[in-house]
Amino acid sequence: MTEPTEIPQAEDLYFGVSPLMLFPETHGNFPVYLRQDGQYVLYAGKSEMFTTQHKARLNDLGMREVFVLKGHKKRYERYVEENLGAILGNEEMPMAERAQIFYGTSLELVKTALRESLPGSLPREQLRQIELFVRQTAKFLSRKDALRSIGSLISHDYKVYRHSVNTFVFTTAVLQTYNLDEKIMLECGVGAILHDIGKQKIPSDILDKPIGLSKAEQAVYQTHPIRGVAMVANLAVSGEVYNSILFHHERMDGSGYPSGLAGADIPFLVRILSVADRYESLVSGKPHREAMTPYQALRVMSEREKGGFDPEVIKRLVLVLSGAGFALGL
Ligand SMILES: [Fe+2]
Ligand SMILES: [Fe+2]
Repeated sequence: MTEPTEIPQAEDLYFGVSPLMLFPETHGNFPVYLRQDGQYVLYAGKSEMFTTQHKARLNDLGMREVFVLKGHKKRYERYVEENLGAILGNEEMPMAERAQIFYGTSLELVKTALRESLPGSLPREQLRQIELFVRQTAKFLSRKDALRSIGSLISHDYKVYRHSVNTFVFTTAVLQTYNLDEKIMLECGVGAILHDIGKQKIPSDILDKPIGLSKAEQAVYQTHPIRGVAMVANLAVSGEVYNSILFHHERMDGSGYPSGLAGADIPFLVRILSVADRYESLVSGKPHREAMTPYQALRVMSEREKGGFDPEVIKRLVLVLSGAGFALGL
């Protein structure tokens, strides 16, 4: 650790990032700080390399957050952009470690994108970062063993950012079973990450309500797809992204919202997202409902909610999950 010259102490000069974002054996070109007893202290100097020892030490110290000066935000973002793809493709790094980097990075990125989009629309810069992230992780996610490793890390709760990341992982896993071109895959990935962005506009007492929603509250909740497309209206998003946000609650039997589209009128790629989205929400805990096991969730979707989903897509989800070692009780 280099001796600091002078370290600014004002809270609002820093932003926090997960220690996972300091990729091993890379240079950041920005200093990294820790907060100890309410004080910022220099942890790694501007040209210092992040090493596995750094990582181990942060772990030993129980640090869940490190800090970067807001003035270095652009440098930090460039650093993530330049290094993530290379790290995920590094065959010398154990798969479990790469999966951890992937999952930690995606949670971090989506959390920031959603936070920064409050209260207005999604900033262009955040969309650009999500697109870059999906591009850099596509190759990694296409590996059979990646989902297996990510699967052991996936945790479920009712936070929108976690739901978005998990839905992205499951959507991508099913998409891989079709022979789609790369551009479509990327657009669907971005769509999966952003599909619930409109929930930012739904009051949190409705989103986090401990028991079921009243009719009126349900009507408000169901505006999230339309509010979502409004949030990206000033960005030139692709048709896939737009469809993902607007139509992910449509159901094959026409019982969904906002348009009540049915069958083939629901874009094919959105049907994949709908299955991944519903599956994720069932296996996640909700304030008013216990989390289901993968087996229970798939059963609900193919029995109680039969007719709502494309059966071929459910079949592929089952294959993908069982191939990755999820306990389906089959
Ligand atoms: Fe939704
Ligand atoms: Fe969702």
